[in-house]
Amino acid sequence: MQLDLTPSTKLFVLTGAGISAESGIATFRDANGLWENHRVEEVASPEGFAASPATVWRFYAQRRAQAATVKPNPAHAALAGAERICGDNFFLATQNVDNLHEAAGSQRLIHMHGELFKTRCSDDDCTTLPFVDMRSSFAELPRCSCGALQRPHIVWFGEVPFEMLKIKRNVQACDIFVTVGSSGVVYPAAGLVREISFRKQNGESCISVYVGLERPDNADEFDHVVLGKAGEVLPTLFR
Ligand code: APR
Ligand code: ZN
Repeated sequence: MQLDLTPSTKLFVLTGAGISAESGIATFRDANGLWENHRVEEVASPEGFAASPATVWRFYAQRRAQAATVKPNPAHAALAGAERICGDNFFLATQNVDNLHEAAGSQRLIHMHGELFKTRCSDDDCTTLPFVDMRSSFAELPRCSCGALQRPHIVWFGEVPFEMLKIKRNVQACDIFVTVGSSGVVYPAAGLVREISFRKQNGESCISVYVGLERPDNADEFDHVVLGKAGEVLPTLFR
C-alpha cells in the first residue's frame, strides 16, 4: 500500500507503543510487556500514587532511565518526513510518553497521555506548571515549592487524556487517518478511527489505515490494515 502525500494532504497520525518497539522500548500488552510485569492500578493510577508514591516514582524512574538510552527508528523518521511534506496539514497524536518522535524531528505533535520526561505538582490547584525533568533517580520523594508531592506528568487510568478537542477537530478535518502500533483497547484513542467511518457514511472522502504487527481490537473500523513492523512499513507507506 502507498499513500500519496502533497503539501495539501491533511494527514492525521495516531501512534501507540508499537512504533517505539523497534527502538527497544517495551510495549504494554505484548509478551513481556509492561503490564505483564507491573500492576497497572499500582503504578499508573491516582489511587496507586496516593497509596505509594515511592512505588510509582520507582516505575517511572526506571522507564526514564531506559528511554534515555534509546534512539528513534525508521518509523519515527518516516513520520517526520511525512510532516515535512504536509507541513501544517500534518497532525500527530501520540499515546506514547517517550520523546522519540521529537528526537526524529517531529514538531507538530500532541502527547495525549502525557510525557515521561516531564514532572508536575500533584496539587491540581497549584500554579506551578509541568516542567522538563530528566531525573531518573531520587534520594527522596520530590516535592513542589508549595509543599505537595510532585508526580510524573502522565495521564493515568481514570484521568482524562490531554487536548482531546483539538485531536477530534483534526480527525474531523483529515483526508488520511493512520494509526501505527496500537492494540486498540484503550479509549478514547481507540475510538478516534470511528469518526472516519462516520464521515465516510456522510459521503466525505477520507480513508483510515492501520499499521502494526497484528490486527488491533478495533481492526474492523479501518479501511486498510497493513500488517508488519512499523520500522519496515512506514518508510515505504508514504510517497
Ligand atoms: N511495529 C508495529 N506494531 C508493533 C510492533 C512493531 N515493531 N511491535 C508491537 N506492535 C504492536 C502490537 O501488535 C500491539 O498491537 O503495537 C501494539 C502495542 O499495543 P499496546 O502494548 O497495547 O500499546 P498501546 O496500544 O500504545 O497502549 C495504549 O494503554 O497502558 C495504556 O497509556 C498506555 O498509551 C498506552 C495505552
Ligand atoms: Zn505545587
